Amino acid sequence: MPILEIIKYGNSTLAKRAEEIKTIDKEIEELAQSMVQTMHAAPGIGLAAPQVNVSKRLITADISVGERSEDLIILINPELVSQEGEIILEEGCLSVPDITEKVARPSHVVIKGLDLEGNERVIEAEGTLAKVFCHEIDHLNGKLFFENLSLLKRNLIKKKLKKRIQTGKIR
Ligand code: NI
Repeated sequence: MPILEIIKYGNSTLAKRAEEIKTIDKEIEELAQSMVQTMHAAPGIGLAAPQVNVSKRLITADISVGERSEDLIILINPELVSQEGEIILEEGCLSVPDITEKVARPSHVVIKGLDLEGNERVIEAEGTLAKVFCHEIDHLNGKLFFENLSLLKRNLIKKKLKKRIQTGKIR
């Protein structure tokens, strides 16, 4: 499967609500496999389909970045079922290069979605994996991680990003 191009801040696909996947066909399977390769190659611990310019509700996660196959998760139409607690962790995004910020997220989450066989999967996660799920589901709703910050911080980051786009540092 080919490695896909990761689109960056400023591309309108990142700001849109992604569409529900109704049929898990070959196209979705291939997209998922390509996303896994793209995530590993980046390297990253999570990827959402809008980041490869496909406005569909599909995410991949692997907090081991390819080290442990049991850590690889592919979820179709993922939903946050419940959340608990709060944890503040450093966060970054492959679509928002060179910017990391501390973001408050639930410390425990329960997520459900479908795997590539169409079976429902319910996953309990905490810490970093919980953060990844929240971050990737945000992507499916057109939201970037820094949009969880205060208006002041958000505007500072947007200004920084705009400048980088103008000077060609983000393409
Ligand atoms: Ni991201």
